[in-house]
Amino acid sequence: MVARLQAGGRMLDFGCGSGRVAMAVKRAFPAAQVTGFDIDAQSIQRAREAASGQNLKIEFATAPPKGQFDLVTICDCIHDLAAPVETLRQVHRLVKPEGTLFIVEPKAADRLEDNRNPVATMFYGFSLFHCMTQSLACGGPGLGTCMGPGQTEKLVREAGFRGFRMLDIKSMTNLFYAATP
Ligand SMILES: C[S@@+](CC[C@H](N)C(=O)[O-])C[C@H]1O[C@@H](n2cnc3c(N)ncnc32)[C@H](O)[C@@H]1O
Repeated sequence: MVARLQAGGRMLDFGCGSGRVAMAVKRAFPAAQVTGFDIDAQSIQRAREAASGQNLKIEFATAPPKGQFDLVTICDCIHDLAAPVETLRQVHRLVKPEGTLFIVEPKAADRLEDNRNPVATMFYGFSLFHCMTQSLACGGPGLGTCMGPGQTEKLVREAGFRGFRMLDIKSMTNLFYAATP
């Protein structure tokens, strides 16, 4: 993936918010064609301003992306989705057959009783006030911030991805996965 991005490969940050991941990738791989997509117009506006302030050429849009990408990232987003499987099916179509979906989710265990620690307590707080609530308000399942690796894998596989593995990246707050079509 590093070689592909260095050689001008295509990268999409799905649910890019204000663009921090897309900008980090563009800074690391200046030749890569970097795109960010989010349904929230205000976030896209903020992302455009931040990228232009740093002289980074990135296409940010609220319109669904076209074509296929070597790398699609979906960071801190799956648990927020109102229609997770349908949206992940859309994401699946955006990944090239030999491409990768990189997933970041909050660090939480599958079982409520295994989430008795300060980080999970903080995440449950976010969840009540934003993640779970906004998904429920849109008629979604309200997966919430602490959905855990088991639920993440189930959703990703249901959406059509055949490869799924947790990546060995150490973090106090996040879990990282790679899924392949
Ligand atoms: C917690 S934010 C994370 C933003 C960014 N990925 C980051 O890590 O900074 C979740 C984002 O997902 C976006 N989102 C939610 N549902 C979406 C959908 N169906 N399609 C695209 N973006 C979506 C939200 O608008 C929000 O910007």
